[in-house]
Amino acid sequence: MTVPPTMRALRQTSSHGPRDLVVHEVPVPEPRPGEVLVRVGAAGVNVADLQQAYGTFGGGPQPPYVAGIEAAGEVVRVGEGVTTVAPGAHVVGACIAGGAFADYAVLPAAGALPVPAGWTDEQAVGLVVNWPTAIAALGPLGGLRAGQTVLVHAAAGATGQAAVTLARHRGATVVGAASADKHAVVRERGADHVVDARADDLAADVLRATGGVGVDLVLESVGGPTLPASLAVTRRVTGRVVVLGMAGGPGSISTWDLVYRHQVQVVGLNIGVLAQAAPHVFGEVLQEMAELLAAGVIAPGAPTTHALTDGPKALAELEARATVGKLALLP
Ligand SMILES: NC(=O)c1ccc[n+]([C@@H]2O[C@H](COP(=O)([O-])OP(=O)(O)OC[C@H]3O[C@@H](n4cnc5c(N)ncnc54)[C@H](OP(=O)(O)O)[C@@H]3O)[C@@H](O)[C@H]2O)c1
Repeated sequence: MTVPPTMRALRQTSSHGPRDLVVHEVPVPEPRPGEVLVRVGAAGVNVADLQQAYGTFGGGPQPPYVAGIEAAGEVVRVGEGVTTVAPGAHVVGACIAGGAFADYAVLPAAGALPVPAGWTDEQAVGLVVNWPTAIAALGPLGGLRAGQTVLVHAAAGATGQAAVTLARHRGATVVGAASADKHAVVRERGADHVVDARADDLAADVLRATGGVGVDLVLESVGGPTLPASLAVTRRVTGRVVVLGMAGGPGSISTWDLVYRHQVQVVGLNIGVLAQAAPHVFGEVLQEMAELLAAGVIAPGAPTTHALTDGPKALAELEARATVGKLALLP
């Protein structure tokens, strides 16, 4: 397979956000032991890319670096010791150090999943970030059972839509919070109630939707602007708040809050750390994902696509809350 010596890549040149994400001609990387080189068919765009661009992603790369965490594509070279995948296979994977927003990208072979048979690369983005996160948040960390109620923030987003779909599949009642112009999508995914994420009193709206009872579980992905409402609507003692993101900025909760005000279970989730630190839990997550794929609950994705060179625009739209569902860059 012929691989050129250089390629186009989006390099983040500062910590001032996606406006400093610039197209460069750079050498095609070599896969190291345990890695594969893919010709990128589609790169997934995530809120984590924004956080890396502003330097707020814990342990993220320092500029200048080739941006992009998630890629699907054809394997063109394998590093030493890689036996699980061969050139010609299509895989989807993630590399937290970046490199996906390019014509070619290196991925760890251990975390690369085969693109499901009959799917395109584009349809597979989201399988290594959004879906495992939703499965982990609702299942091993959130403990959602049939008949319980869950509040999903950013419910029209990539991770949110996966969570709404899965929560309904698990027989839960779903309250989805999203900007008003995105409510139709959240209902299409099966949410029982939809509330306006920008409402003045989000907690009152969620309580109204749940007959004053509140929810058993919150998937908290917005942070500062919504954490107080999330804590207020969670059932005392048995209720769980899984904190998986802070698209709106960081929030905080004190020991005083937990003892005297919000007697709830607060759990942190970072899917990359979960895969490393609790491989048995991650194995359960991947097993459930395989079952959901086989059952058709996880269908081929339909991301909104942009040319690779329009990456800064796609990230700016994500930052402006102007997007619905998954975004992908096509080299
Ligand atoms: N912990 C993990 O391992 C993990 C993995 C994947 C994703 N996540 C988290 O899951 C969340 C969703 O990520 P995603 O990539 O799927 O993005 P996304 O949900 O497709 O897009 C982000 C959405 O968040 C909502 N939002 C609310 N306040 C916002 C603000 N101030 N700025 C930007 N967006 C705001 C917006 O929806 P509305 O306009 O409808 O409010 C926006 O469309 C993020 O917090 C991300 O960090 C975490």
